[in-house]
Amino acid sequence: MDVLVIGASGLLGTDLVTALLEADHEVTGLGQSELDVRTLAVDDEDAVRHAVGGHDVVVDAAGLPPEAAERHPSLAFDVDAVGAQLVAAACARTGTRLVHVSSADVVAGHPQGSPVPVTAPLRPLGAHGRAHAAGEWAVRASGADALVVRAGWLYGAHGDCLPRMLAALARETDALRVPASWAGQPTWTVDVARVVVGLLEVGAPAGVYPASAMGWTDRFGWALEVWESLGRDLDLLEPVEGEDPGDDHDDHDHHVEHDGPVEPPGWSVLAPQPLRRLGVEPVGPWRLRWQEAADEVLAGL
Ligand SMILES: NC(=O)c1ccc[n+]([C@@H]2O[C@H](COP(=O)([O-])OP(=O)(O)OC[C@H]3O[C@@H](n4cnc5c(N)ncnc54)[C@H](OP(=O)(O)O)[C@@H]3O)[C@@H](O)[C@H]2O)c1
Repeated sequence: MDVLVIGASGLLGTDLVTALLEADHEVTGLGQSELDVRTLAVDDEDAVRHAVGGHDVVVDAAGLPPEAAERHPSLAFDVDAVGAQLVAAACARTGTRLVHVSSADVVAGHPQGSPVPVTAPLRPLGAHGRAHAAGEWAVRASGADALVVRAGWLYGAHGDCLPRMLAALARETDALRVPASWAGQPTWTVDVARVVVGLLEVGAPAGVYPASAMGWTDRFGWALEVWESLGRDLDLLEPVEGEDPGDDHDDHDHHVEHDGPVEPPGWSVLAPQPLRRLGVEPVGPWRLRWQEAADEVLAGL
């Protein structure tokens, strides 16, 4: 297949390009400077053909990571929702298959307890979740032949993510306070990329697909796992129950969370079933996948 990857320079995009190349697909990767999804002129036939024409598949991995989205909610909406709409419209117009990368936070407002199936209604939390929920709606309404791939708590070797941030903080500080309330599934970008390649290769029907690792933890449990991989004393991590990630903290207080709006504890936990039905292996348990990924993700830090 000839695949165009938008957002190819990002944490996820870099591993998507690698996985597609390894599976012998032709790949064109674009960063924001080559194609800004907010400015795709979908009413201009020539512009659309120039942007996405000639490819069998467009993978839209452009967007803001969650922390940046909470800091810049309008920009997040412009890229993750409006940009997604424009890419989907271009794909619909040219009859090009679309893989749209979404987020587990589109269902984070469901009550904590059971993993959320793809059939559940969207209940986003936070600016990141809301922008992606709007993006999903726009993609579904576009008429494009679209695979919507949801994942959350991404980590990888090619960009900012919690393990790499903790590794940097571990050099500067002895003790860290970590909010504990939000639950999710730490997921290696290499695994998401494998799921995307698998879905394309089995010719999966249009729909929504989970690509998060199995099982779940809270942010503190995730930080503990990384801290242990860094060889640091686990007693130096302190959970902060019910802390608002939107609070500003003074510079002497080391937190792994970021500025953002007040939200109730989130539940970004996806059920994996639809992948098995198609013959695509779901991502394994998050802790085992982290043990496999840790050396590569933390290399050079
Ligand atoms: N990180 C996570 O934990 C997480 C979780 C769930 C969902 N997601 C979603 O997954 C997608 C990829 O995230 P990521 O973590 O890989 O982010 P990332 O490392 O920041 O990469 C984002 C990519 O999108 C590109 N981009 C940003 N704005 C753009 C625009 N206006 N037009 C075209 N390209 C643009 C960037 O290009 P430049 O580098 O050239 O600016 C970069 O290639 C995003 O939609 C994100 O919301 C991420």
